[in-house]
Amino acid sequence: MTGVYLDHNATTPLAERVRAAMLPWLGERWGNPSSIHRFGQAAAAAVEEAREQVARLVGANPLEVVFCGSGTEANNAVIWSAARRSGFRGHFVIAALEHPSVHAAAAAVAELGCAVTTVPPAPDGVIEPERLLASLRPESVLVALQLANNEVGTVQPVGAVAAGCRERGVLLLCDAVQAVGKIAVDREALGADYLVLAGHKFHGPVGAAALVVRGDTPFLPWLVGGAQERRRRASTTNVAAVVGLGAAAAVAHGELPARAARLAALRDRCEEGLGAIPGVRIHARTAPRLPNTCHVAFPGLIGQELMIRLDLAGYAVSTGSACASGAVEPSPLLLAMGIARDEALASIRISFGLTNRPAEVDAFLPELAAAVAALRAGTTP
Ligand SMILES: Cc1ncc(COP(=O)(O)O)c(C=O)c1O
Repeated sequence: MTGVYLDHNATTPLAERVRAAMLPWLGERWGNPSSIHRFGQAAAAAVEEAREQVARLVGANPLEVVFCGSGTEANNAVIWSAARRSGFRGHFVIAALEHPSVHAAAAAVAELGCAVTTVPPAPDGVIEPERLLASLRPESVLVALQLANNEVGTVQPVGAVAAGCRERGVLLLCDAVQAVGKIAVDREALGADYLVLAGHKFHGPVGAAALVVRGDTPFLPWLVGGAQERRRRASTTNVAAVVGLGAAAAVAHGELPARAARLAALRDRCEEGLGAIPGVRIHARTAPRLPNTCHVAFPGLIGQELMIRLDLAGYAVSTGSACASGAVEPSPLLLAMGIARDEALASIRISFGLTNRPAEVDAFLPELAAAVAALRAGTTP
């Protein structure tokens, strides 16, 4: 594929070492880890090694790691577990910044009788712990607070919220899908009861994710059937994907924190250059942020049009806007941050990854400036 990929928060290319670890399990090696013959036991050994690699990356015990198919699945599973345990009478507190896989699952359990409170972030895109904790009720069963946001990249005060939740006996789901592999993530320091990560966001495969369930925290499985994953997630194990997730975790573990510094250098180089474009507004710039994410508005134009123009020029970025019935709708997250509708619509997300080079940033900036100028002048490509 030609072009420069600047959309790593959407997904990342598979790392060479990850691909090499997976390939045998897509060819000459196979086996069902639940089988007791030699094929099965070899597959089980590979899966257990991956479990240790994932646990090491986030400071957990391998026994706490439940492999699943996606971050979406893991977030759904935790919310349904809490709802079922409460007899569909529990109260959920959800940060407005959460991924749709959290919001939609919360909306589904609300239809069955649960109550949901959504807590907006401060204008800098960060949740205020006191405000979130103040919305807890005696019947609260779960708080969902992500570690890092997929759109603006803000890093949330999960440790402080977890401490308050523990005092009140409420469980905490921390969706760390965007954080793992980019910044150090220590489950103990975060204090999360459930932590979610997904391989494809850090140069691992799609279809491999993990739900880390702390110690003996209650968890009712979402998928039931076989006894896989210690009865916490039924389905025949996708060995190649799990091996790839483990390899991605091992590579990330070996490269952090140098990886974060490398990503931040690319992002900062980009943001310095953006300053030359008139009217530019970088969102959440002063908040704690992921090192790879730049979210920026160019007032006066439509982010989706800019994204398409950049694609034609060979640069892949994204917007948080959605097309609903032919009209472009702004990202709900930006609106929750108090950003005006026009500015939200004028925004794009640039997210760097390990394959990007400084020279790509230098080549991108003049293309971006030219695209912005052309759109503002109303010229067609
Ligand atoms: C913060 C966050 N949570 C969850 C998900 C869902 O993960 P998956 O794509 O593995 O279902 C994403 C994916 O974009 C995400 O950014």
